[in-house]
Amino acid sequence: MYFTLAFAWHSLDSSTVQCVTRLALRSSISEADFAELKLPTGEVAKLPMLYPSHGTDKFIDIGTLNKQAGVYTYDPGFQCTASCSSAITFIDGDKGQCNYRGYPVDQIAQSSNFLEVSYLLLNGEMPTPEEMQEFDSEIKQHMIIKTKMLSFFNSMPSAAHPMAQMTSVVAGLSAFYPVSLDPKDHKQHMEAAIRMVAKMPMISALIYRNSLGLPAVYPRSDFTYAENLLYMMFSNPTHTTFPQNEKVFKAAAKAIDVFLILHADHEQNASTSTVRIAGSSQANPYAAVSAGIASLWGPAHGGANEAVIQMLEEIGTKENVAEFVRKVKNKEAGVRLMGFGHRVYKNYDPRAKYFKTLVGEVLDGMDIQDPKLEVARELERIALEDEYFIKRKLYPNVDFYTGIMLRAIGIPTSMFTVMFALARTVGWITQWKEMVEEKGFRISRPRQIYIGAPERKLP
Ligand SMILES: CC(C)(COP(=O)(O)OP(=O)(O)OC[C@H]1O[C@@H](n2cnc3c(N)ncnc32)[C@H](O)[C@@H]1OP(=O)(O)O)[C@@H](O)C(=O)NCCC(=O)NCCS
Repeated sequence: MYFTLAFAWHSLDSSTVQCVTRLALRSSISEADFAELKLPTGEVAKLPMLYPSHGTDKFIDIGTLNKQAGVYTYDPGFQCTASCSSAITFIDGDKGQCNYRGYPVDQIAQSSNFLEVSYLLLNGEMPTPEEMQEFDSEIKQHMIIKTKMLSFFNSMPSAAHPMAQMTSVVAGLSAFYPVSLDPKDHKQHMEAAIRMVAKMPMISALIYRNSLGLPAVYPRSDFTYAENLLYMMFSNPTHTTFPQNEKVFKAAAKAIDVFLILHADHEQNASTSTVRIAGSSQANPYAAVSAGIASLWGPAHGGANEAVIQMLEEIGTKENVAEFVRKVKNKEAGVRLMGFGHRVYKNYDPRAKYFKTLVGEVLDGMDIQDPKLEVARELERIALEDEYFIKRKLYPNVDFYTGIMLRAIGIPTSMFTVMFALARTVGWITQWKEMVEEKGFRISRPRQIYIGAPERKLP
């Protein structure tokens, strides 16, 4: 593989009809230049440049590369490859920006609620009051899961990992709601999306209650989405309200609502790409989301806020922070500053910035003094002034403060990834919907470089 990439900037050439057709599929492309790829054999492939509608990234469309030059590209882990075009979420990692449908997430978190954000993600625009009322009532209509589904939980051991339960139950929804996909049927896609978002709080609550051997609690129509989640998780069926007082219940629900908003989508990460790939075969959307949940399960993806709590507990007190940072900088085996650093953000994660303030407010509102918050703040203070972290552009990510907040609300660490999956479901299903409704929708089929034995005879 000794080819050279020679970039040549040309204006659009009318003879390259094929490229123009490919560009036409992407309505948001504003400009079309070309890059030239010169192979060692001398062949040159002329590849269109693609520019996003916002931001400064540049892309080369390699869709015709094999036809033009007989070669493929190699990019394990998709370090350098856009797998799709999308109008849902925009991230600028250098500036620390994340926008949903063009709106900065921290601004949305201040002025909206999770169901409004779900509407925005799914429909592209903020709802009018009438649209919101209709959406809210549709969600409430679908919140209860079928009685037969309760037997899924009954058949699981109480000690089953919450994510093991979640992947199975969500895949199980496809048995109750078979979908024979029609890429043109927008109503069919929206119906699946609404059902999926609506049922997640009860599924999440049942996972928690199953671990404690507690019976199901059903949602109430006078509660918000976040209030229903807390109500179904923590209330006792013989009582009508949340165990704590009204003020604490409202404060906890508000914090959960913000958590859900700030985790609702994050463009093409491992789990979202998994949902897209699974869904690209026209598989049932609930099964595709279940595949995404499986991907999120891993510690390299959804499990980091749990690791932050463990780290803060191990450090114990503010006085031990400097010694811990010394171990991190010395790269002592297995010691990393959890909740710091991000593959895309090379600046303060805007979601972390928001949670930093919120976590203090939640703890105050709930009258909780958690020494872990003091340790976290000291860690951040030291790290942000330290050359090691500055040089590597390591800033707090979304997981740094969320664990403390979830724990204060009473959510056990074993349920953290379930909470993440609950929030991300709307993002996954929006991404699935965008993909199946796209012109030129087709199955994903990556290539490989085969490095095994050549063809040989059986012994
Ligand atoms: C998220 C993460 C995997 C991103 O990694 P990445 O962008 O691929 O960066 P790399 O792992 O290549 O690290 C680059 C450098 O920063 C260092 N680094 C990265 N994250 C670090 C952290 N959390 N603590 C200490 N050092 C860290 C690496 O040791 C490496 O140093 P080097 O250049 O001297 O070798 C990484 O920052 C990490 O492990 N963070 C902690 C886990 C976490 O919070 N995950 C949740 C992400 S939302």
